[in-house]
Amino acid sequence: METVFVPIKDEKDIKNIKLAADILKRGGLVALPTETVYGLGANALDETAVAHIFAAKGRPQDNPLIIHVSCIDDVSLYTEDVPSKAYKLMEALCPGPLTVILKRKSNIPDIVSANLETVAVRIPKHAITRAIIKEAGVPIAAPSANLSGKPSPTTAAHVAADMDGKIDMIIDGGPCAVGLESTVVDLTGDIPMLLRPGQIGLSVLRKFLPNIEVDKHVTDLTVSDGPVRSPGMKYKHYSPNAEVIVIEGTLENTQKEILSQMNTFQNAGKKVGVLAQDSAFSPKEADTILYAGDTLDHYAAHLFSYLRQFDDLKMDVILAQFEPKGDISLAIKNRLYRSAANHIIRV
Ligand code: TXA
Ligand code: MG
Repeated sequence: METVFVPIKDEKDIKNIKLAADILKRGGLVALPTETVYGLGANALDETAVAHIFAAKGRPQDNPLIIHVSCIDDVSLYTEDVPSKAYKLMEALCPGPLTVILKRKSNIPDIVSANLETVAVRIPKHAITRAIIKEAGVPIAAPSANLSGKPSPTTAAHVAADMDGKIDMIIDGGPCAVGLESTVVDLTGDIPMLLRPGQIGLSVLRKFLPNIEVDKHVTDLTVSDGPVRSPGMKYKHYSPNAEVIVIEGTLENTQKEILSQMNTFQNAGKKVGVLAQDSAFSPKEADTILYAGDTLDHYAAHLFSYLRQFDDLKMDVILAQFEPKGDISLAIKNRLYRSAANHIIRV
């Protein structure tokens, strides 16, 4: 299949917005920019179209999808028994990088929710994508537009690298501002549960959901007891071809450890890339250094892109310097630990 690549500058590009909406309405797949990561969209009410998402990504069938709607009023079309706390949360934070898990109405096909009784709903902030959803007039199921297991795409070029020839259209709406996927909160039980941390952190969530708890799979990749509440959490994730090792601790300690690890790997003939958090850290022995920036928001926005870049540069090992600081740390940690398959050195 030929994949059409279409740059759209803003939501006033009605012609291309209609073009994308028409493809979605006809059952096609369109990669869409959002403020978090690029999504691979299909009409959520069309089972065949949704099945094509799973095929294009190589995604396990038991991993449910998020449906994207253009406004809060549309949430009740596809969900039931929505608690008032859900509306309060959405009114404060949507459109934005938040996904809420609610009880599913029967008009959402089983395949979307992997047979769960719930459905994940999100209202993206990106104006182009909201305009496309509105024009399509249907909810859009959209996982991140990467091959299953790979880092999520934060540019249209990343999407093309994974999806060219497999989908109908890629919309280029520029790089994603947040760079990590949305915060996922389950509101179907008495106690709200954070299933996936994102830019909207716990301190903000607690203002609306004082009793929110963090699902144990968020940072502990080793727990295997009990059911996994967010099926996506059990799979290999965000994995570049290179081996990732997280070096966590103060900037000073992590610098020392990175130098020592680098030495060991290079002596074994491996090419070592350093993802440096500290812009003053410039080990000349590194085969590549990419700076994650002085703020953790910048780290978040560039993490997936840098993991892909290290692969393009054929690094064998990525040493990721990480000093947790503030609310967004939980979200970065969650992705880093998974990309490293839990290989963490704390210093
Ligand atoms: O920022 C985002 O959320 C991006 C953009 C495209 O919107 N989408 C995204 O989708 O990250 P995906 O499919 O890559 O991740 C969705 C996560 C998975 O971990 C999945 O298991 C979980 O949400 N999920 C979806 N439906 C669920 C449900 N009903 N109950 C629990 N977890 C659910
Ligand atoms: Mg994903």
